[in-house]
Amino acid sequence: MNFFMVLLILFFISLFEGFLERAFSIGKSVTGFPLWVIEISDRPGEIEAEPAFKYIGNVHGDEPVGRELLLRLANWICDNYGKDPLAKMIVNNVHLHILPSLNPDGFSVRKRNNANNVDLNRDFPDQFFPLNEDLSLRQPETTAVMTWLRDIRFTASATLHGGALVANFPWDGTEDKRKYYYGCPDDETFRFLARIYSKSHRNMSLSKEFEEGITNGASWYPIYGGMQDWNYIHGGCFELTLEISDNKWPPASELPTIWEYNRMSMLNLVASLVKTGVHGRIFSLDKGKPLPGIVVVKGINYTVKAHQAYADYHRLLTPGQKYEVTASSPGYKPKTTSVWLGENAVTADFILIPEASSGGKLLRSNCDCNCGQPLLTHFFTDTYNGITFTLVVVVAFLCFLLQRRVRFNLWKQRQSSRRSITI
Ligand SMILES: *[C@@H]1O[C@H](CO)[C@@H](O)[C@H](O)[C@H]1NC(C)=O
Ligand SMILES: *[C@@H]1O[C@H](CO)[C@@H](O)[C@H](O)[C@H]1NC(C)=O
Ligand SMILES: [Zn+2]
Repeated sequence: MNFFMVLLILFFISLFEGFLERAFSIGKSVTGFPLWVIEISDRPGEIEAEPAFKYIGNVHGDEPVGRELLLRLANWICDNYGKDPLAKMIVNNVHLHILPSLNPDGFSVRKRNNANNVDLNRDFPDQFFPLNEDLSLRQPETTAVMTWLRDIRFTASATLHGGALVANFPWDGTEDKRKYYYGCPDDETFRFLARIYSKSHRNMSLSKEFEEGITNGASWYPIYGGMQDWNYIHGGCFELTLEISDNKWPPASELPTIWEYNRMSMLNLVASLVKTGVHGRIFSLDKGKPLPGIVVVKGINYTVKAHQAYADYHRLLTPGQKYEVTASSPGYKPKTTSVWLGENAVTADFILIPEASSGGKLLRSNCDCNCGQPLLTHFFTDTYNGITFTLVVVVAFLCFLLQRRVRFNLWKQRQSSRRSITI
């Protein structure tokens, strides 16, 4: 067998097997150690209209349990891709990024801070106290995370710590530095996500100290310059801080047990990006091109951005409620729809109409059927010159047909688990 045949065989194997993961470095620690990230996906390294999730471990050098669990998580998902439906679902529908150790320097000397003796979880820009605004003083590890978030749009994330057993959510600090419950605009959704973790954990939700095993950061102890609040405010990323073991540095023999305690929590948290929330894409009516617009939900002062390339958006929300979701993009008329969010995720695609479009306006008043506008508007503007009574009849008939089709589609989609609507 010659060299080329081997190459050819390898090529075909890679086609069928697919590569599930790639490793890349997002920067270097103070002493020059690469900050390795493992990306797990059916198309690692590619941009897809899918949500992304990141796990970060070992922010504090003396909290190594997260680092160990993240390596196990990466192995487990790759090993079980073909066997376990949850692993398969995550690989196929999420881009999962895993950074096992943000602080390899601290880890190597069993210290909390990095090699410059800075606590990385106090080094981010803060919403209340501009402690860390001086860019030249920011640590390389912190800068690496901030650049990573600029390059990759993450929907949610979690950072693993040790020393307690609780799922912590924003805000982490208060304006007056006192300790009390201080919820962010998405408090309900954060409570929902934190509960997914604690309830899937073997005994986190049984905590005596924290009701249901979850806590608001500021009501536990306020911190400033933390990674969690910065992610939510500047990264568009819903981040939890997970304290996964009371003992910061347990004997290695306990790791398999701790992994088993946390495994379902870690998987379910990532899977929640697909199983719940409102997702979709934003298009322009005129050429059908993706519009990187924004999505807001009535009553929640927070903006979710659609992706620059595919204009997909992923809005995590608490299930069991009705939401008014509005998509907008500069130069287009915003559109709003009501979404009843049950136990499953909902897909809502938006088709926005350019503000200057005049042909479409006329038609919409003719045909108030609330359906098939993309098709009809093209049809109408193209043949505007020779408009006759016949055309109006044809349009009305098309409308009638489309309405029936939409109804049929809605009925069909209700049969499957994820509901889908186009607005
Ligand atoms: C959870 O289990 C671990 C290991 O058995 C134990 O150390 C810890 O105290 C338990 N925590 C709760 C809240 O039950
Ligand atoms: C919404 O949040 C922004 C900060 O993100 C704040 O400046 C603004 O005042 C808030 N608006 C309302 C109505 O609370
Ligand atoms: Zn920590």
